[in-house]
Amino acid sequence: MAILENSHFTKEKVMQYQSQLVAKPYFIAAIGLFIGQIIFGLILGTQYVVGDFLFPEIPFNVARMVHTNLLIVWLLFGFMGAAYYLVPEESERELYSPKLAIITFWVFLVTGALTIVGYLAVPYATLAAMTGNDILPTMGREYLEQPLITKVGILLVVVSLLYNITMTTLMGRKTSITIILLMGLWGLAFFWLFAFYNPGNLVLDKYYWFWVVHLWVEGVWELIMAALLAFVLIKVTGVDREVIDKWMYVIIALALITGILGTGHHYYWIGTPSYWQWIGSVFSALEPIPFFVMTLFAFSMINRRRRDHPNKIATLWALGTAVTAFLGAGVWGFMHTLAPINFYTHGSQITAAHGHLAFYGAYVMVVLTIISYSMPIMRGRVANSQQAQKWETWAFWMMTVSMVVITLFLTGAGVMQVWLQRIGDTPMSFMATQDELVIFYWLRLVGGAVFFIGLIVYVISFFIKGDITLLSPNEKLSPVETEVKSDVRSDIAHVSTEDSSEEKLGNKK
Ligand code: HEM
Ligand code: HEM
Ligand SMILES: [Fe+2]
Repeated sequence: MAILENSHFTKEKVMQYQSQLVAKPYFIAAIGLFIGQIIFGLILGTQYVVGDFLFPEIPFNVARMVHTNLLIVWLLFGFMGAAYYLVPEESERELYSPKLAIITFWVFLVTGALTIVGYLAVPYATLAAMTGNDILPTMGREYLEQPLITKVGILLVVVSLLYNITMTTLMGRKTSITIILLMGLWGLAFFWLFAFYNPGNLVLDKYYWFWVVHLWVEGVWELIMAALLAFVLIKVTGVDREVIDKWMYVIIALALITGILGTGHHYYWIGTPSYWQWIGSVFSALEPIPFFVMTLFAFSMINRRRRDHPNKIATLWALGTAVTAFLGAGVWGFMHTLAPINFYTHGSQITAAHGHLAFYGAYVMVVLTIISYSMPIMRGRVANSQQAQKWETWAFWMMTVSMVVITLFLTGAGVMQVWLQRIGDTPMSFMATQDELVIFYWLRLVGGAVFFIGLIVYVISFFIKGDITLLSPNEKLSPVETEVKSDVRSDIAHVSTEDSSEEKLGNKK
């Protein structure tokens, strides 16, 4: 009955609030920049094994800066798109100012694009001179390489987002999801301020540098992640909010309690007092707990589910996030977080292994989860066709498995590096050690190539048509009904008579 051509329906049939659509350009930009990030990853991976690849056009340090900065920027695009999509629906009203959200999008895109062009077109020192680094020196630190104007631009963009979604929330329904998301995003803006503080004393510099780098990913971003996961899980499982709320508060409390003092695991060798070795070790050793609770939370939601949502792949992304984040952040983080171990592993390929799987498992995957859930809706359907979902499922596995493989090769390289270079009576030099690790780097490059193919398959999945599951017009919910039924709305999604076993909706238990 309900497998119908997409063109028969307009977006408002499936989407509750028109202003949610502002999320779409954010998500498209995110995916575009993600592709750029991976291309630069492949350039880096190639330079590891063919030292003068693309030299002098794109030196390693420049490619690395582009790779990591694009990562951060596209994740921010993803978080912002997610916030603009989720907050109206949770608040049960239109976004305070959709126009501001669109202007903000363009400001962010232009700022981001100009920054990357700047990195590639002029030497870094020239860029610094051109962009006012002498007024307020903020450049030159890993992840925080952006020129001052870009940093100000990011701040304005985030403040605009906060204003817009905070007003929307204040004027509408307040849920634990929006409150936690807002806390996360306000925290993100607050800690960003430390990107502007660059004391001349190197110890102080490093100390506050981690207030951005660590307190983002192991603090406030975890709140964002938990909120996005909870939102998608409520939608795809139909489980009651009350159940979610309890989990959420436990996760948030654990994340903050462990994450804040856990910053100490970056203070071991930077010139801070040695008590940080104890504080950092003890609290950061507990940091895997909130990630583990998120995994339990996701599985418990799926087990209690009251419906089988037709968007199977969004559910897979949600579960994948919970598991891979625990592996990358929890397990690979724990591996080198105790001071006596970190003494040997600090700044080695083990760090890179952990950095890759943690960023991918937690933040890349959670952004892809919300995109996977919301993009079909913004394109006028509850879920993509079976065919499109099949492509996206392939993309999920190709990207996830190859990232795990990259992590394993880097871990192998890291263990060997530590062994040859830092343990024993006749330690080898850094470069001599690197020569021994070439095979791992080749294999990492192969993993990277498969990751890239997975990403291409992911992009293709957006263009695969096929039979689409939709709401039918007579089941469009009125605003009053919407208020009551907002969480069960997707129950109305339709069942194909031809293929009811696959897409059957409604109560399971
Ligand atoms: C999703 C969450 C996480 C992300 C995205 C992440 C990412 C990263 C990245 C990119 C670095 C390298 C920083 C640099 O360049 O200096 C790093 C370092 C580190 N991370 Fe994480 N991390 C996460 C969670 C954790 C957790 C939960 C732990 C501990 C259980 C942990 C332990 C460490 C340690 C000890 C270092 C320092 C490594 C060194 O001394 O070289 N991380 N992390
Ligand atoms: C979504 C996927 C990816 C994420 C989240 C990611 C993340 C990162 C991060 C956080 C760093 C800094 C690591 C640190 O400071 O320890 C980094 C560096 C790097 N990435 Fe990626 N990356 C991804 C994909 C790739 C791919 C596909 C390749 C290619 C083979 C690659 C190759 C590299 C290389 C060679 C570096 C430099 C490591 C060094 O400085 O020695 N990355 N990436
Ligand atoms: Fe950390």
